[in-house]
Amino acid sequence: MKIEDFFRDVPNFPKEGILFKDITPLLLNPKATQFCLDSLTNSLIEKKIDKVIGVESRGFFFGILMAQKLNAGFVPVRKPKKLPYKTISASYALEYGTDSLEIHVDAIQPGDKVLIHDDVLATGGTAEAVCKLVEQLGGEIVQVNFLMELSFLNGREKLAEKDIFAAVTY
Ligand code: PRP
Ligand code: MG
Repeated sequence: MKIEDFFRDVPNFPKEGILFKDITPLLLNPKATQFCLDSLTNSLIEKKIDKVIGVESRGFFFGILMAQKLNAGFVPVRKPKKLPYKTISASYALEYGTDSLEIHVDAIQPGDKVLIHDDVLATGGTAEAVCKLVEQLGGEIVQVNFLMELSFLNGREKLAEKDIFAAVTY
């Protein structure tokens, strides 16, 4: 089975000239989802992960599945003003302007072994901001983990010192 066979190319989404990799066919297929979950987590079973972070919104799908499989807590990192309790935030650059992400202050304890998951590594700005949040709370980032990496956008350069895993690389 090949995970990329369950990604659908959608031209000109979300805007003209972008070829969007749609993961919803993967989510529709329980066997493919299980296979993908196994390939994302196989090397992590022995790592005694305490918390898995899923990045809103497309990082939530596999983030929570991975947390269950690794017997770890699930932590949502969310877009601004979505989390109800006390938060810290980190901003990152967009094509035009900036955006930010937030985490609950009590979601990570100092020394927690943390796995960060998102669907796509593109320019790396999102993942870099999530790393800052985890480090600010004293977590130890074991891996930054993606369904796919768009390697031509060089996102890895922003995560230079991190262990990075992507199930599929383009
Ligand atoms: C997309 C994608 C990643 C991020 C990658 O999320 O799901 O989270 O961009 O881009 P980067 O590496 O250049 O930062 P988006 O912000 O579009 O939101 P969504 O997940 O809610 O669709
Ligand atoms: Mg996203």
